[in-house]
Amino acid sequence: MKNHDHGITIAVYPGSFDPVTNGHLDIIHRAAKVFDKLIVAVLNNSSKNPLFSLEERMALIQQVTRDLPNVEVDSFRDLLVNYMKLKNVNLIVRGLRAVSDFEYELQMASTNHKLNEDVETFFMTSKPKYSYLSSSIVKEIARFHGPVGDLVPPEVEEALKLKYPVSL
Ligand code: PNS
Repeated sequence: MKNHDHGITIAVYPGSFDPVTNGHLDIIHRAAKVFDKLIVAVLNNSSKNPLFSLEERMALIQQVTRDLPNVEVDSFRDLLVNYMKLKNVNLIVRGLRAVSDFEYELQMASTNHKLNEDVETFFMTSKPKYSYLSSSIVKEIARFHGPVGDLVPPEVEEALKLKYPVSL
C-alpha cells in the first residue's frame, strides 16, 4: 500500500523502547528493507515511569540506527493514530515474539483500525533467538549487574551500566 501523498511507502514502528534491544533492532533492520522509510516512534508517556527519559531512549535508537539512512527517530504522545494522521502515514509495524504476544497485539491492531480504518498493522516475526527478549528482561538483568552484551547493542549496554553502577 502506498501512502498516497508521499508516493513512497512509509511505516511507523511504535514502542516504548526502554531501552531498545537487539530484538527491536532486528525488526528495524528488516522493516527498513521492506518499507521505503521507517519512522521509529517512541512513546512519550510519563505514567509508564520509564528507566530512560524520552531523550535518552531516542538518542540510543539514533545511535544504533545511524547506518540506516531510511530510518528516522521521532516521538509521540497520546494516541498513535493521531500522531500517524499528523505525519500522514497509515502503516504500523510490530514485532511478534511468541503466541503470548498475539492477544495484546490483536487488540491493539484492531483498536487502531477501529479508530482509523485507513491504518493497517503489519507484523514481523522475531528471530527465534530473540523470542524471550524484552526491555523488561534486559533491565532486570542489568539491575543485578548480569551480562546483557548479547541482548542489546554496546551503546545500550554502556547506558545501562551508568543507570546501574556497581557500588564498591
Ligand atoms: O513497546 P510497547 O510498550 O509494547 O509499545 C506499545 C505502544 C507504545 C505501541 C502502545 O502502547 C501505543 O501505541 N500507545 C499509545 C496509545 C494508543 O494509541 N493506544 C491505542 C492502541 S491500544
